[in-house]
Amino acid sequence: MIGVYLTRLDIARLRCLKQASVEPCAGLNLLLGGNGAGKTSVLEGLFLLGSGRSFRSGGHEAMIQSGAHAAQVYAELVFEGRHERVGIERARSRWQALHNGARVADLAELASLVPVVCFSPDSHELVSGGAEARRRFFDWIVFHVEPGFTEVYRRYSRVLRQRNALLKTGPADTELETWTLELASSGERVAECRSRVFPRFAEAMGTKLGELLGELGEATILFRRGWREGIPLLERLRMIQNREREVGHTLAGPHRADWMIHIGNHEIRDHGSRGQQKLVALSAVLVAAQLYQQRRGHPPIVVLDDLASELDTEHQQRALLACAALGAQLWVSGTQGLLATEAWMGERRVFHVERGEVSAMPGG
Ligand SMILES: Nc1ncnc2c1ncn2[C@@H]1O[C@H](COP(=O)(O)OP(=O)(O)OP(=O)(O)O)[C@@H](O)[C@H]1O
Ligand SMILES: [Mg+2]
Repeated sequence: MIGVYLTRLDIARLRCLKQASVEPCAGLNLLLGGNGAGKTSVLEGLFLLGSGRSFRSGGHEAMIQSGAHAAQVYAELVFEGRHERVGIERARSRWQALHNGARVADLAELASLVPVVCFSPDSHELVSGGAEARRRFFDWIVFHVEPGFTEVYRRYSRVLRQRNALLKTGPADTELETWTLELASSGERVAECRSRVFPRFAEAMGTKLGELLGELGEATILFRRGWREGIPLLERLRMIQNREREVGHTLAGPHRADWMIHIGNHEIRDHGSRGQQKLVALSAVLVAAQLYQQRRGHPPIVVLDDLASELDTEHQQRALLACAALGAQLWVSGTQGLLATEAWMGERRVFHVERGEVSAMPGG
């Protein structure tokens, strides 16, 4: 199999996992165990490697085992035919990472090597929650699809921080203008990267939502770039600078971008049931995997946490089929054997999780 898959995952001092070790297969890896056993924690460890953070609400601090100063995750993986070793240590206010034994200065390096998309019980927040989660989700795709995005994005974030700090001090016009010019040019570049990717995202989402929620009507996906359409960011910033001086921060730019989904005539965020919001989130996760694959020629690693409690059997099966079609290494957790996985044709391994201990099930 060409692509990316873990061959080993070691986790220490992460929630209830004192020291856990998993040797996954390249296909389906099923983590089974009772509530509170540590299944999600294993998946959090994997996600941490690829993102430096948790996918659960509560931030990375909550992840570190009580009484410990840091959580650690180490993995061996095959990435596009190369054997790689990566590790991350997450303390409360700092991180440290290694790639093949050498210190990593930039988490983007790990993010490239361990691309993970994740569907979890918190995923409906992608639809019902704030814009930041949607921006971050979409930017994961842009990061993997648009070379150079990280650099452009970082530059913008730096300038934004500086301009915001300046706005709080009542700056002279000429001083503010210097930062406004800088912000407008880097902001336009962030928005350009995003808007190159968005049409593909919207199109694939339309198709996926048709498959999963087709009975509700046609879906439209809208992108808001973060300032008024039809005018350059520079012009917009000059129009609103008096208000910005009053509030003390920047009111327009790609840091205010968002995307939203209408199905039929309604925005799914306001009108969708919880189950429908979950299916929209699942669609988004599968589409992210698909767009990654189109760019890289292979899928990312896919995590489906607590699949059975989130979806009915029919939708579980569709999710698994989509992952099987992509050929992704798949990590699925559940409290009991999942009916839907019986149709999985490829390689599989089953792990039993109990009180923070993970063991491979014989014959699994
Ligand atoms: N910082 C922490 N330190 C130690 N233990 C923690 C910490 N945070 C959470 N826990 C414990 O770790 C366990 C979390 O396990 P996890 O959420 O991975 O379980 P799970 O197998 O996914 O369960 P469920 O089926 O309910 O989703 C819980 O027992 C919780 O009390
Ligand atoms: Mg769980």
